[in-house]
Amino acid sequence: MDTYNYGMIGLGVMGRNLLYNIAENGFSIAGFDLDIQKINDTQENAAEGMKVIGTDSLEQFVSHLELPRKIILMVPAGSPVDTVLENITPLLSKGDIVIDAGNSYFKDTDRRVKNLATIGLHFMGMGVSGGEKGARFGPSIMPGGDMEAFHSVRPMLEAIAAKVNGEACTDYMGKDAAGHYVKMVHNGIEYAVMQLISEAYDLLKQGADLTNDQLYEVFKEWNDGELNSFLIEITRDIFQQKDPMTGGFLVDQILDKAGSKGTGKWTSEEALELGVAIPAIDAAVASRTLSSYKAERVEASSLYAKPEISKPEDPKLFIKEVGDALFLSILISYTQGLSLLVKASEEYQFQIPLKAVVKIWRGGCIIRSSLLEKFYEVYTVNPNLSNILLSNDIAEIVNSKITALRKTVSFSTANGISTLGMQTVLAYFDAYTTKDLPINLIQAQRDYFGAHTYQRKDQEGIFHTQWGNTDH
Ligand code: 6PG
Repeated sequence: MDTYNYGMIGLGVMGRNLLYNIAENGFSIAGFDLDIQKINDTQENAAEGMKVIGTDSLEQFVSHLELPRKIILMVPAGSPVDTVLENITPLLSKGDIVIDAGNSYFKDTDRRVKNLATIGLHFMGMGVSGGEKGARFGPSIMPGGDMEAFHSVRPMLEAIAAKVNGEACTDYMGKDAAGHYVKMVHNGIEYAVMQLISEAYDLLKQGADLTNDQLYEVFKEWNDGELNSFLIEITRDIFQQKDPMTGGFLVDQILDKAGSKGTGKWTSEEALELGVAIPAIDAAVASRTLSSYKAERVEASSLYAKPEISKPEDPKLFIKEVGDALFLSILISYTQGLSLLVKASEEYQFQIPLKAVVKIWRGGCIIRSSLLEKFYEVYTVNPNLSNILLSNDIAEIVNSKITALRKTVSFSTANGISTLGMQTVLAYFDAYTTKDLPINLIQAQRDYFGAHTYQRKDQEGIFHTQWGNTDH
């Protein structure tokens, strides 16, 4: 019987596209799914020259694979992954490699790595970003876990990943569940960037009365400049999409309630857990939650009148400032996500290489952007920055845009246009760059009511005061 280099479990759109990508790059691959229709579709639509086979029998699937077996799972996160593992592990041999390419929660991955290691199996958590097209033609791939296992799949991953300046958008993300951790933070940043873009859209639409055609032009110009990125590019195109039902623009017919699958929330929960401030991502998660209160928002809008919008005197300048504010807010969202990776790397001993993270986020993934090229340069020179805002090169960029962010936020607050993300980014920036915060007062209050003690500026040690003795 013919043997195959790789196995793919789960032949939904993502699994099938990844399978074709692997096959197109010269690796033979067997697919497994319980749905016979998906197996037939996968086999029938394989291009000529691809060595692909499909089956709905796990036994057959396993027997098709060369040793050590290399099996990729592309099934929904959560219990489906455990079910697949329960069914397949009795059929595997020591040294086989199982790679979970879904959006699994990193703590689940950690548990699975440990469980499977006890029976001699290598389990890797691997983030894959880029949606359906990315999976087919070049995603960004974030593998982590066992180094030995990584090395045996590395040539295939490098072949199928997106390329930027000749470099593959995949690299080793660190130990244990690091791959899924990095993907989780990628998604947290994705939430923040999408939120910030929606705020820029609102400012241009409400503030400067831009039509969808004009918004298309502005986003086109932005995408051709320093804001160049996948999310700006697709937003540009969204403004052109017509609605077949009404003949108008589709974006205007879409209800303002955003869904979510949980990766943004996990990122915020993790940051709280590890004591890292990532308010841009928190604000994006909160904003999706707020969006779900549609009925309440409608009711509240009749109780609380908005100020009449005073239109910008120079619309061209206003658009430029909104663009600069957006660019800077996006930059600071990346820095927050990266600062979480620094802390997680220490806390869980993941050894996440930040330079490699930004390298592989430059292409293939949802948050790919030209800005990450700059981050890559900075980390190449100084890979151990605790926060990339501390780099002189980044400071230069931030200093050139900060006035635009202040003006944009002022405009939004004066006119009652909600910019939860931009305002939060600015407040974070102002706190992060303040030498003396007013938190001395909080320490005084804590010591006053709870004898929690405080430190002094002028002496070492821990102090407590009997507060309230205010005789002078
Ligand atoms: C990607 C995306 C992908 C998915 C998100 C959507 O990197 O390709 O992040 O993983 O589209 O999970 O997340 P929400 O449904 O939570 O917005």
